[in-house]
Amino acid sequence: MCGIIGYTGKGNAAKIMLDALELLEYRGYDSAGIALLGGNGMRILKSAGRVGDLRKRCKGQDTGGHCGIGHTRWATHGGVCDQNAHPHRFGRVTLIHNGIIENYKELTEKYHLAGKLRSQTDTEVAAAVVDHFYTGDPYSAIRRTVLKLKGTFAFAVLFDDQPDKIFAVRNVSPIVAAITPDGAILSSDVAAIVPFTPDYFVLPEFHVAALSPAGIELFDLSGDREEIVWQKADWDVGQSGKGGYPFYMEKEIMEQPKAVQETILPRIRDGRPDFSEEGIPDRVLAECKRICVIACGTAMHAGLVGKSLIQAMIGIHVDVVMASEFMYNDPVVDGETLVIAISQSGETIDTLEALKFARACGSPSISIVNVRGASIARVSEYVIYTNAGPEIAVASTKAYTTQLAVLYLLTARMAAARGLWSEKTLEGFMQELKRVPDVLKQVLQTKEEIHRLAGAILHARDVFMIGRGLDYSILLEGSLKLKEVSYIHSEAYASGELKHGTIALITEDTPVIAVVTQEKLKSKELSNIREVQSRGARVLLLIKEGEALEEGEGLSCVYRLPRMEDPFMVMPASVVLQLIAYYVSSDKGLDVDKPRNLAKVVTVE
Ligand code: M6R
Repeated sequence: MCGIIGYTGKGNAAKIMLDALELLEYRGYDSAGIALLGGNGMRILKSAGRVGDLRKRCKGQDTGGHCGIGHTRWATHGGVCDQNAHPHRFGRVTLIHNGIIENYKELTEKYHLAGKLRSQTDTEVAAAVVDHFYTGDPYSAIRRTVLKLKGTFAFAVLFDDQPDKIFAVRNVSPIVAAITPDGAILSSDVAAIVPFTPDYFVLPEFHVAALSPAGIELFDLSGDREEIVWQKADWDVGQSGKGGYPFYMEKEIMEQPKAVQETILPRIRDGRPDFSEEGIPDRVLAECKRICVIACGTAMHAGLVGKSLIQAMIGIHVDVVMASEFMYNDPVVDGETLVIAISQSGETIDTLEALKFARACGSPSISIVNVRGASIARVSEYVIYTNAGPEIAVASTKAYTTQLAVLYLLTARMAAARGLWSEKTLEGFMQELKRVPDVLKQVLQTKEEIHRLAGAILHARDVFMIGRGLDYSILLEGSLKLKEVSYIHSEAYASGELKHGTIALITEDTPVIAVVTQEKLKSKELSNIREVQSRGARVLLLIKEGEALEEGEGLSCVYRLPRMEDPFMVMPASVVLQLIAYYVSSDKGLDVDKPRNLAKVVTVE
């Protein structure tokens, strides 16, 4: 969490950083700030609120200069206020930080900082420690500081007497850097770099990068120079804008047919699923005795769909574990457990740490990641990239459906590797998978109808969502989507579970969204719908086209989903749920892309 930017070169540093902070704002938007180092010394401008507020704060101020660092914050230590906004300055040192310094209290005591700090942040303590060690040698000060820190960090540091230079160091939290046509830039992620160049590198952990207008040098902590390993970003700048949509979320929902297509097609060869580009040997898929999926939030919900698919079609046991709980439940993973880590950003710290633990236990691992070169991709034995392109809205949409697409492919490849399916079954499955982009297009063409349906819950206080099996899995995601972007309380329940308590909350006019897409569960699901209706619930039903509903079923709202084979129905149904959440949020006039208290990349535990 938190977005970091640093620029030094011939350009206008303030302008470059403010523009970049807007691109990074999805990483946190509690406050923003910049520090400029130049002829007029150090100037820091910062304010609580969005980058837009910082721009206002900069108006009429001296923002000239060619070297600076900037930050957009997701608050961890210390409330949301101007004082706690980054950059933080102590003595001759000004820095920005993403991460958490766990031993900041001990450091405050050890270096007698009480009474000298102006903020409540752990970051200012780190600035003070760097200043304590600074005797004119930035590398030594950084090295000695880093050895004292416990926790995660990505720092960009300016020293008053090192004009035009930015120093960066990190542990876990990401930093990427690049040479621009007129200088050098660093950032938390490539989103802010691609407008300048596709070539970048990931700063290795516990290494120091020194940026100057002449370029970038890389050193290990003992001061030895190291070669930079360059990578190429494959996101073009055009993909990063809103493309005429009012919000990124809508744009990203609309991009799903293409994103899914681009995720599936390169992995189909001669009609069969193929992971040879990723170098995944069939033995990894054929020999594992069980699977453990680790992920958070939306990615974890994708894992739940994967569990249903794999258990039903391959017949091996799959656990889906919230990565944030993984380490605290004495995980049992071993060489026979295939660990699948799912993450859009590839930086979610809980998923990353869980994956590292599983690898240390000898588990083979595959990660499903969207952002190229992200930490989770690097730690994993094998990586399958979802080709969703940049996902900027905090609420995940196209990342989710592309994660599902990869899970379908993996299921099919696993079945083939284990010799479980006939050629005909495999062919039928792959044909149906290839239909998904067109089916999603069909759903998206009905978005105005979905908009009208969303009106039914616009003023609701609580919304319940019910379904069974795969339908329940996608409702968990639909409910998360609604909660996070519309602030309406919502719960997804396995319909059969309602009677064990929750049905007590259903009263006259309670809105209930029900999804019925699985033939084998249909009659039970419809009975559960009748149960809530007879308690007064207002039901919005998502059901396959052509499914008969009995006279008197009394459903006020029905949305007909385009027909697919049952295992694939989660795709069109998920898109309808995403659109419902989106329209409720935008019709309420909320900031759809940046819901309160959230950030897109969760790099703190
Ligand atoms: O980047 P990741 O996929 O690892 O992020 C995990 C969750 O934070 C994320 O899926 C989150 O739940 C969604 N952005 C919510 O829409």
